Amino acid sequence: MVQETHLTPANLIWPIFVKEGTASVEPIASMPGVERVSIDLAVAHAEQAKDLGIACVAIFPVTPTALKSDDGRHALDPDNLICRTTKAIRDRCGDSLGIVCDVALDPYTTHGHDGVVVDNDVANDLTVDILCGQAINQARAGCTVIAPSDMMDGRVGRIRAALDAEGFSHVAIMSYAAKYASAFYGPFRDAVGSAKNLGGATKKTYQMDPSNTTEALREVALDIAEGADIVMVKPGMPYLDIVQRLHDTFPIPIAVYQVSGEYAMLKLASQAGALDERTVVMESMIAFRRAGACSILTYFAKQVAQWLQ
Ligand code: PBG
Repeated sequence: MVQETHLTPANLIWPIFVKEGTASVEPIASMPGVERVSIDLAVAHAEQAKDLGIACVAIFPVTPTALKSDDGRHALDPDNLICRTTKAIRDRCGDSLGIVCDVALDPYTTHGHDGVVVDNDVANDLTVDILCGQAINQARAGCTVIAPSDMMDGRVGRIRAALDAEGFSHVAIMSYAAKYASAFYGPFRDAVGSAKNLGGATKKTYQMDPSNTTEALREVALDIAEGADIVMVKPGMPYLDIVQRLHDTFPIPIAVYQVSGEYAMLKLASQAGALDERTVVMESMIAFRRAGACSILTYFAKQVAQWLQ
């Protein structure tokens, strides 16, 4: 009667790693329980997600090395892995499952950065031009939400205009607005194979400084002004203060990403017998909701939805 916060499967977004092949599954060493799967199995995952009442799946492609380039141009190929996966899921699940497609060039660049590099730094405006093409490409494949995770300045407005001009005014933008330059993304970069491309480089010139809070307010205010429908905080658990501050400040839906490193911490500690997996994962979910997030991207999504049942 007095419980203040609730969680339902509709609060969940399930990130899925997709690779080439058929009936093919590849474990990810740093993320036990999470796998890279071929399109047919990704579609099966999506169907399960739909049946469980999960709001959306988010698709992350593992791009074969031969298709990576300096400028990430494979992002614009209508026949690339993320587009084929999106189409296949849309064909099977129709409108009753949301499909989130990331916008950023890191799955496609030989250097692993989210944009094109000029004079040893990511070139903001040149990158935004390409990101607009990537967004349209993915919208044509049938995604319902475009999620720019690149952190270039001004991209939300440009992507919104580009989508509208192509007849995709119904496609929503979930902006990675407060995305920090975090070491918690390590296992994700293993999963999509961008860690080796990135080498020792960091993304600190475009992702946020973990010591900053008011900068998150500025980033979010800009993204809202440019037309974002949902704004995201990432990582999740170490940044609940940011979630709460944004929730208290802006009347807009807030998403939070429980990232790969957070998944690894909870999973590996549970496997070692140090934590009770179900209890800590559900506690982390309600903590995100309590802080003010309406959507939670988590690799535990399917498990959480099953526990809720
Ligand atoms: C790519 C992207 C990243 C994640 C989501 N999209 C990694 C990065 O910015 O290097 C991280 C997700 C996770 O760690 O689970 N732009």
